[in-house]
Amino acid sequence: MAIEVIESGQACGAMVSGVDLSRPLGPETVAEIRRAVLDHHVIAFADQTMDDDDLERFSLYFGGFGDDPYIAPIAGREHVIAVARRADETSSLFAENWHSDWSFQATPPSFTCLLGITIPPVGGDTLYADQHAALEAMPADLRARLEGRMAIHSARFGYAPNGTYGFDDQAGDRSMDIRPSETATATQLHSILRPHPETGRLGIFGCLGYIIGIEGMPGDEARCLIEELHAWQTRDEFVYTHRWQPGTLTMWDNRSVLHRATGGYEGYDRLLHRTTISGAAISDAAMVTSS
Ligand code: SIN
Repeated sequence: MAIEVIESGQACGAMVSGVDLSRPLGPETVAEIRRAVLDHHVIAFADQTMDDDDLERFSLYFGGFGDDPYIAPIAGREHVIAVARRADETSSLFAENWHSDWSFQATPPSFTCLLGITIPPVGGDTLYADQHAALEAMPADLRARLEGRMAIHSARFGYAPNGTYGFDDQAGDRSMDIRPSETATATQLHSILRPHPETGRLGIFGCLGYIIGIEGMPGDEARCLIEELHAWQTRDEFVYTHRWQPGTLTMWDNRSVLHRATGGYEGYDRLLHRTTISGAAISDAAMVTSS
């Protein structure tokens, strides 16, 4: 039976029905799901009764597991992490800044899967910003200043020992098992504007946070440009708001969207299980230039 795909009516995102993810999927269904996530960038499957075996099996239909640094996997699994927050937790919200998952890696993950397990009755939405739409609507002068530029990505502000999730944070009240490291100070270049490796559609890759500079540009000038880009690429008109229910699985394309967590559920637990799916190396030649 073919899956049904219903668009969210927002900037991107779609609900997918007609598939039970607790059972193995045939190649045609997998191909339809891949088409849906490439077309809509974020897809959600409601009312699933999946466990971690099912989550892993589903993830592996779309590639190998990604490398998830700095967050320990849950007990008994190598590739599933818990995005968790207790009702009484006082640490800062995890992943509240816009980002593309692990964009500081040489080959960042293609897709991320996130399964809602304990979902608060209010708040805790995940926001997604469509980076193809953001580029297509971008003012020409901003685009001209970004074309041909390489961004310097790093995990240092998040996961270095003195970062947001560094040793001070770990000594505090965080329920997630985050492991800061000096390795987070490393840097990695990626084209700011580039074609999607599977669809060829042009988009913006990454944003302020993991982007810490622009190659060959003085720091102050780069900072201003990265902030200007951030303000543009996260405008409301490019955003899909995902409202969670227990048993919903979302899958998103990190090459097409930025995402961020939101709060507003103080007094309630929230727990989701996450996998990432490895991406392919993208050549530096795959950038958008004005020539
Ligand atoms: C994440 O960035 O993987 C977490 C998103 C969320 O908690 O809503």
